[in-house]
Amino acid sequence: MSTWLSKRLLDIVERDKRVFPRGISIKHYPLVVKSARGCFLRDIEGREYIDFVSGAVVYPIGHLHEEVVEAIENQLKRYLGYPIVYFYAEEPVLLAEKLISITPGSFEKKVFLGFSGSDAVEVALLVSRAARGAKYVVSFNDSFHGSLYLTFSASGIFSEEAKRSALASSDIIFTPYPNPYRNPYGIDGYEKPVELSNTILRELERLFSVRGSEISAVLLEPIQGDGGIVVPPEYFVRELGKLCSEYDILLVDDEVKTGIGRTGRWWGIEHYNVTPDILVAGKGLGSGMPISAVVGRANVMDSYPEGGLGYTLTGHALSATAALATLGVIERENLIERARHLGDYIVKRLSELKERYEIIGDVRGKGLLIGVEIVRDKARKTPDKPLALKIAWRAWERGLVLLTVGKYGNVLRIAPPLNTPRDIVDRALEILEESVRDVLEGRVPDDVLAYMRGW
Ligand SMILES: Cc1ncc(COP(=O)(O)O)c(C=O)c1O
Repeated sequence: MSTWLSKRLLDIVERDKRVFPRGISIKHYPLVVKSARGCFLRDIEGREYIDFVSGAVVYPIGHLHEEVVEAIENQLKRYLGYPIVYFYAEEPVLLAEKLISITPGSFEKKVFLGFSGSDAVEVALLVSRAARGAKYVVSFNDSFHGSLYLTFSASGIFSEEAKRSALASSDIIFTPYPNPYRNPYGIDGYEKPVELSNTILRELERLFSVRGSEISAVLLEPIQGDGGIVVPPEYFVRELGKLCSEYDILLVDDEVKTGIGRTGRWWGIEHYNVTPDILVAGKGLGSGMPISAVVGRANVMDSYPEGGLGYTLTGHALSATAALATLGVIERENLIERARHLGDYIVKRLSELKERYEIIGDVRGKGLLIGVEIVRDKARKTPDKPLALKIAWRAWERGLVLLTVGKYGNVLRIAPPLNTPRDIVDRALEILEESVRDVLEGRVPDDVLAYMRGW
């Protein structure tokens, strides 16, 4: 067994198992973080790691950025929050105004503030259903939108069996997502993006023409995240936007993972020149403070009954302050452009690795949301989850934190903070290649897999 495991780590693994339900866990390896700063983590054994995943894609400006810390400290000296459902506060108003100004669409907008991606997507679906008086939502196979009732139900990544045992809602209609690398039609979507797109769009048009009045919204990830960092053809998203307008179906853009500059634009949907009716942000918005947002057409957002959307801590001032500081740093330090350039550089380096290693089937992404698909062989594209997990394990032992995602659990996710220095990126890529080599040369035993679930 790996010498990287210590008694202290294993003790926490055991205690974690005893107190938390299995429903919250898709564990990777026993990393137990003690502290974090910038793009580095330190574990309880004092060992340092490069954070190449930003936790769960949460830290666009790294850990404990000094401007966020200062904003939080200043807020702590004044007050933490006071209920905006009953009274008023300026911090959440400032954040809502800022979000309205940086999201696509010149129409009148309103903003809901929540705490997690799940609650925000849930609200986006609730207001859509109320606005259109129609209960069905179209979502995509292999998508992930959250862990509440509607959002779990609308997440295509969970099996039918999991959905049945959780008594998921039946108000969701699933449709294929145009995955250019692997799809049930055998179409190479990189070579033939329009053919792949039209195959799915034709089905959708048929559905809308028959049941359009029963459908309130299409829920879309502009890049599928947990489904495996799948980038759809530009043509597909543009035509989907047109189809939704034609049938008066709302387009709900889930930017929980792709937003806040991650893909080299403020929002992933901006790569496709489509204006969504509702946009959802979360994860990186508060640099680690719990906050999410739904920004939508004012008339849609106002369609829900008074009092029906307000949580006790909605519009929490401390989280709103952290979010404002985060957005400010991204703008001032030009981190969106940086994400674009650094992302292009990483994809280029990884594509070189793809040429050298038979087990790297595909490298894709936009900005700093990148996926590396691990396969048994390139020709057949057979997904190899154990190999991907072992690479992540070995990278951890070598000081790099990586994760695996995807329908088959075989895609390495790369999503470092947008301000990660270039020399650290180079070191991370070296570790990644060393880890691939170690695994291929049999230096990572199978028994590490006992600790790893992954997606
Ligand atoms: C696209 C997307 N939507 C929604 C969610 C749910 O967000 P949260 O886990 O903060 O509730 C996630 C989380 O991974 C996500 O990636």
